[in-house]
Amino acid sequence: MEKLVSNWSNVQSVPENYIFPPETRPGEYLKIPFSHSIPIIDLNEAQNGDRTNTIQKIIKAAQEFGFFQVINHGISLNEMKETMSVFKEVFQMPDEYKQNMHLDDDLKTCKIFTSSLRYETEKVHLWRDSLRHPSHPLEQWQHLWPENPTTYRECVGNFSIKIKDLGSRILDLISEGLGLECEYFDNDLTGSMIISVNHYPPCPTPSLTLGITKHKDPYIITILMQDDVSGLQVFKDGKWISVEPLPHAFVINIGHLLEIISKGKLISAEHRAVTNSSHTRTSAAFFIAPSDDCLIVPAQDISDENDRPILKCFKYKEFLKQFFNKHGDTDMLRKSLEAPKN
Ligand code: OGA
Ligand code: NI
Repeated sequence: MEKLVSNWSNVQSVPENYIFPPETRPGEYLKIPFSHSIPIIDLNEAQNGDRTNTIQKIIKAAQEFGFFQVINHGISLNEMKETMSVFKEVFQMPDEYKQNMHLDDDLKTCKIFTSSLRYETEKVHLWRDSLRHPSHPLEQWQHLWPENPTTYRECVGNFSIKIKDLGSRILDLISEGLGLECEYFDNDLTGSMIISVNHYPPCPTPSLTLGITKHKDPYIITILMQDDVSGLQVFKDGKWISVEPLPHAFVINIGHLLEIISKGKLISAEHRAVTNSSHTRTSAAFFIAPSDDCLIVPAQDISDENDRPILKCFKYKEFLKQFFNKHGDTDMLRKSLEAPKN
């Protein structure tokens, strides 16, 4: 297996096969001011105040940015910090332990890998290591998770139950805002959850490298917990904007499947992660996703826009397979889902 970036010793310069071509490397976009335009939504308001107002704010953010942050979401700062530190500990485990959590072909198992799941075929490697495993339904997966740190299974298990519940609350607000029946997503559309912990070690020349290339998440929604180091950027109106790390907030983004289900009413924004030369950055993405055999159908109760192509129904499992085959190119994937015009 390829050596994890976090296991390299004494990194002085960026190896050739980690340098992105000028058109995709961060370059001048490496350091951009935080955008205060990405909305911060107080979820307490939905419970104890004006639910309609919260729903409107969420829908507006999901239409304009495809991204927003949530605060007062019911998960304590302590639990967030504790879980983040357990995630960080995994990457501080001895090299041997990390290298032994092998990469194999099965997307379902628990693994640590470097760069992306397409290491063999990608032209340029990513400056990151990643820990990835499913987490819902918990009883199906928890026994396959890392045994070390010893608190991992219990801590991450409890946390992921809370994250799944937060996801349901947000999706309830979204379904209400889209005029869909309540609990529209409360079925096999959200039958699984995948945890993906990104670990970006310091990089000597961050303007040349990327932690994750520009992509859309191929799921329903993503709940992202960041540490206090910045790096997440969102592509909006032809420019990159930076998402501020707020210790008590989660970043929410609309997945590609939700864009399709909402007939484009909500957008799934492209985003990426940049590296930096002084700090290690860790982020944990919780992808709320359908069950394998779930059929993805654009919602009937949402009106069609004239200029939008009608999409075929498809199985989530097939979509994901194609997503990985097409190297994460969601535009190309979407085209292949268009129903033939008659
Ligand atoms: C992802 C992702 C961004 C980050 O894991 O899909 O976009 O900030 N992560 O690590
Ligand atoms: Ni992403």
